[in-house]
Amino acid sequence: MKVLVATDKPFAKVAVDGIRKEIEAAGFELALLEKYGEKAKLLEAVKDANALIIRSDVIDAEVFDAAKELKIVVRAGAGYDNVDLAAATAHGVCVMNTPGQNSNAVAELVFGLLVYAVRNFFNGTSGTELKGKKLGIHAFGNVGRNVARIAKGFGMEIYAFDAYCPKNVIEEAGVKAVDSVEELYKTCDVVSLHIPATAETKNSINYALVNLMPKGAILVNTARKEVINEAELIKLMEERADLKYITDIMPVANEEFATKFAGRYFSTPKKMGAQTAEANINAGIAAAKQIVGFFKDGCEKFRVNK
Ligand SMILES: NC(=O)c1ccc[n+]([C@@H]2O[C@H](COP(=O)([O-])OP(=O)(O)OC[C@H]3O[C@@H](n4cnc5c(N)ncnc54)[C@H](O)[C@@H]3O)[C@@H](O)[C@H]2O)c1
Repeated sequence: MKVLVATDKPFAKVAVDGIRKEIEAAGFELALLEKYGEKAKLLEAVKDANALIIRSDVIDAEVFDAAKELKIVVRAGAGYDNVDLAAATAHGVCVMNTPGQNSNAVAELVFGLLVYAVRNFFNGTSGTELKGKKLGIHAFGNVGRNVARIAKGFGMEIYAFDAYCPKNVIEEAGVKAVDSVEELYKTCDVVSLHIPATAETKNSINYALVNLMPKGAILVNTARKEVINEAELIKLMEERADLKYITDIMPVANEEFATKFAGRYFSTPKKMGAQTAEANINAGIAAAKQIVGFFKDGCEKFRVNK
């Protein structure tokens, strides 16, 4: 059984060591394709792989066509919008993610970004504090829950909206569950995005919604760039000089944001949310264990395609 780790942006070495240990202990073989750059190298490497571990690598129909022996792809991480699920299903391949493994890393980054923003990007001027401010958590999944836990330590008032998570689950975590997404934005000084990129959420963070936020509001995005309607957010920020946008996912219009909104816009140069040794190790090892469980016990927990 050949397990290929194909990562254009490689795992930390310690994570690869952990993956290797799990795979070899099961009697499987591990192959490594890192920083491959061109897709042709990926297409060549997947030819005889039975299982694939990836990160943000794009796995489309062409990859599935080339990977004749492939039975399972595990995205070491939460979002799996980089995998063509319909093509996977058509080729009889199981796709999984490793939910929850990098949530704390992303949640900690939210607060790194927020402190940076409320202290005016460390420009030497006097900023504000997070304590006592109203935080809106837009989607109460794995990352959202960790954000709530940390926000308590900051002394923030915490609100959340999730279209699918029952209100009582949110309330049991000590968070006020609001009835609508509009109420969340109307109420909160800071909104932190934790929705996945789906047909329903793409472009949904638009002029009308963000304009509901009170004066001096901050929108923080560690979710996906696709959920933002960039043209409308730019228009709104031109009209409202009080708004700040900070993001871990560089917008397509990064240059325009950076030029027009100096002092109230920041993007990490590369997606940093899950870039910790701990998240790397957790997600990588979870992916390896899921592959072993799939082949040895037929376990399909965390399968995301039909
Ligand atoms: N910056 C990074 O490096 C990084 C790392 C991990 C995850 N992420 C992104 O963060 C986001 C959240 O990840 P997660 O692990 O918490 O995912 P998750 O699946 O645990 O949670 C997502 C939540 O969104 C809710 N949801 C789905 N559609 C919704 C809608 N239309 N309106 C409101 N709520 C909706 C779901 O009910 C669920 O509770 C994803 O977009 C993921 O891709 C980014």
